[in-house]
Order: sequence, then C-alpha cells, then structure tokens
Amino acid sequence: MPEAHMPEHVAIVMDGNGRWAEQRRRSRSWGHQAGLKALRRTARHGTEIGIRILTVFAFSSENWNRPALEVSRLMDLFMSALEKEVKGLHENGVKVRFIGDLSGFKPELRERMLAAQELTAANTRSQLNVAANYGGRWDIVNAARTMAEQARDGQLDPASIDEGLFGSRLALADTPDPDLFIRTGGEMRISNFLLWQCAYTEFYFSDVLWPDFGKDELDRAIAAYQQRERRFGKTGKQVRDHAHA
Ligand code: FPP
Repeated sequence: MPEAHMPEHVAIVMDGNGRWAEQRRRSRSWGHQAGLKALRRTARHGTEIGIRILTVFAFSSENWNRPALEVSRLMDLFMSALEKEVKGLHENGVKVRFIGDLSGFKPELRERMLAAQELTAANTRSQLNVAANYGGRWDIVNAARTMAEQARDGQLDPASIDEGLFGSRLALADTPDPDLFIRTGGEMRISNFLLWQCAYTEFYFSDVLWPDFGKDELDRAIAAYQQRERRFGKTGKQVRDHAHA
C-alpha cells in the first residue's frame, strides 16, 4: 500500500470480547485476554505499515457499571499487561500514553500507567494512546472547566477561546485528529469515544469480534479508508483539483 495514503492516526473501539468468549462457553474475562492479544497483533502490524498513532478504547467511563467480577478482572489484566508489555513497546520505540480520568483507578495501577508514560515519553517511532476511564463528554467538560478556571483567575481571555485553543485543552492535545475510526463487533455507534476529535474522521465498522481482529482485518479497514474521498466540507471537485495542482 502506498505510504502516502496511510492514515496517520487510527482510533479503535475494540468491541466483542465478551461475545467471542460466550460463543466459546468461556468467561468474558477470557475474552478480554484474547482481546489483549488482538491488540498486540494489531499494534505491531500498524507500526510496521506506518501508522504513526493508534488510540484504543480500553475502558470507558461507563464500563464501571459492568459486573464487579468482570471489572476487577479487567483491572488485573491492565496491571499484568503493563508489567509484561511495556518493556517490549519501549524497545520498539513506541510512546505510550493514557487518556482519561486516571484518578478513578487504584493507586498501584495509576502509578504503573504513569511509569509507562514516563519510560516511553521520548520514543518517536509510533504512539499508542490507551483510553482508560475515558469518555468523550468527560474530555470536553474537563477542557471547559480548565478554561473557566483560568478565565476566573484572569489567566485567559474568554474572547481568545477558539477551536484551536479548546482542542489544546483536550486529552489528545498536540496529536492530530484520527483519520480513521474502526469499531469491531457489529455495533455502529461512537459510544462516547473521541467526540470532538472525530469531527472529520472516516468511520469503518466491522462485524468481526475484536479477538479475531488482526493484520488482515486492519489491512481491509485501511483499504476501505483509501477508497474514501475526504472533503472536509469542500466539494469533490475542489478536493480533486487541489490534489492534482
Ligand atoms: C469491549 O468488548 C472491550 C472492553 C470493554 C475491554 C477492552 C480491553 C482490552 C482489549 C484489553 C486491552 C488491554 C490494555 C492494557 C490496553 P465487550 O466486553 O463489550 O464485548 P461484547 O460487546 O461482546 O460484550
């Protein structure tokens, strides 16, 4: 595939772990473990084909409402994944970043997340953003609150608030918006993921359950993306004329 048409930033809602496990008469937690393997495969292939930024939805603000056992097993999975995966990611030049309200996690987990961020902060080959206790509305409200506090303290002129400034207060500030959003598991909704950042993102929905996702599926999503014409509000002719100019 030509590098020029590669999406720079891909966001993924990794849905279907629970159903995948239930189909095999195993626990939902077993499905999440298989989901972690799918993430490893996908991230590795993504880096190899030149996707610079991958943002995955690992745990939403709403996922706390799941059965207590599933939530606690997911937390254990995050702990062990951080222990086992971070070294390899670091050796491969991947910068790891967590987005979301990390204060919701127990201190040991939060510390591991922060340690992983610190260790990999200077890496430049690719970036893996893990959304944990994240919600798109939380992100926007958080940015609004930060700016309101700064305005109250006289550090920010409300008249200076524009899209650029607002975006700089969001969790993915300094990261280009996703070019491609992938959701597996057959549902066609955004589920409060990157609401602001997906204003012009191309959407790709797959019926494949996340644990079955990997190299071929990612290639398929990218091939579909490469067929799209991104217009950003312009006409098709304007976009094509500009491309050939
Ligand atoms: C959605 O499937 C998946 C999740 C809520 C968890 C995703 C987590 C991982 C893939 C592990 C990643 C680990 C790290 C460290 C980033 P679902 O449970 O909603 O599936 P269902 O729709 O079939 O019930």
